[in-house]
Amino acid sequence: MRGKNIVIGICGGIAAYKIPHLVRLLKKKGAHVRVALTEGGAHFVSELALATVSEEPVYGKIFPPMGTERMDFTRHISLGEWADALVIAPATANTLARLSAGLCDDMLSALFITLRPGKPVLIFPAMDGQMFLSPSVQRNIATLATQGCSIINPESGELASGLCGVGRMPEPEAILAALEEALHENRECSPLRGKRVVVTAGPTREKIDGVRFISNYSSGKMGFALARAASKRGALVTLIAGPVHLPTPPDVERLDVESTAEMNVIAEGFFKSCDLFIGAAAVSDYRPAMPYEGKMKKDDEIIELTLVKNPDILAGFGMQKNASQIAVGFALETRTGLESARKKLVSKNLDLIAFNFFDRKTSGFEVDTNILTLIGSDGAITELPQLTKDAAAEKLLDAVELLYLKRTVNP
Ligand code: CTP
Repeated sequence: MRGKNIVIGICGGIAAYKIPHLVRLLKKKGAHVRVALTEGGAHFVSELALATVSEEPVYGKIFPPMGTERMDFTRHISLGEWADALVIAPATANTLARLSAGLCDDMLSALFITLRPGKPVLIFPAMDGQMFLSPSVQRNIATLATQGCSIINPESGELASGLCGVGRMPEPEAILAALEEALHENRECSPLRGKRVVVTAGPTREKIDGVRFISNYSSGKMGFALARAASKRGALVTLIAGPVHLPTPPDVERLDVESTAEMNVIAEGFFKSCDLFIGAAAVSDYRPAMPYEGKMKKDDEIIELTLVKNPDILAGFGMQKNASQIAVGFALETRTGLESARKKLVSKNLDLIAFNFFDRKTSGFEVDTNILTLIGSDGAITELPQLTKDAAAEKLLDAVELLYLKRTVNP
């Protein structure tokens, strides 16, 4: 749950009073929570309570009131992009009807439409038993289920009407457990499942002589995080690693190399067979033309080292890939980043590039966090905040999954 972005939609049912507790449970688990409150929901639970526990403004009407400090008219889209999962609890008969009809007249219904494909939607209907069993409610539930929503049937027990029967919303703890399971299952049905993924990671070393080399500060952490995250999503991962001291992620095939030339030969062996190639290695662009045999002596005041260009491994893959293969690269930049990253995306024929701002404190080599901006070949830009490299890897793979989903919709 840590680092996950969860939106909770609350509708006008008495069980709404339990949702602040659910928000607290999620926050304790490290999730980021935003609430979309319907007009009916606002009768049962206060906006102030929800804003306080979620530490976020509450989303209600689709149009922000005129004259508010920040007029953000596209919040319904940014919220849909932000969410890793949507929980609607309690879901009333009215909201079920609006969602199944595709209405889009408040933030919850708009978010439902703008949610990224493949993200779990859990709906917890809660209402009087007769209402729940009525043909129209059942028809709307069936429609939403065919759209891929998970409908969690209400429990039996005492209802607000004083009657006993089916209709009660499960307790917040049960909702949390269902959400955790759904996010896990989401992994199980990831478009990356069964895909052959190759990741290059770490620095390379270029020999000057028998005891010296040219290299860089790359720790390999980002590439290893990507290999770990892809493997967790069910991909068959090969990690081609330069010289780093990092444990091999579970279920990942690791091939250790030293120089760019070695990395290139191994990588080329996977060019035809892999589905996704991620170039996360900080490859040395040049190597000494003639490495000295043995150890060079310091006889001369000045020595000159002639360097020759190394092959560009990622560009090699990008240039030969077929229509079903995906190429992802990084652009480590200290200045004029975005433009340079865009140029690399085009010149290497990539599908996605992560502009990686380098400042050695918050992002780039050696540190445990990264600040990435993802640029797609369609021009789409996603700016990620400072994240741990594990969390950044998850976000980058989310973007890759989206590419696969788009290809399924528009082959
Ligand atoms: N890359 C590669 N082989 C190389 C150089 C780079 O596979 N010989 C890959 C990196 O793994 C990264 C992307 O290409 O995914 C961009 O690397 P970067 O160092 O940012 O840029 P370069 O292409 O090397 O260009 P420059 O150093 O001029 O910025």
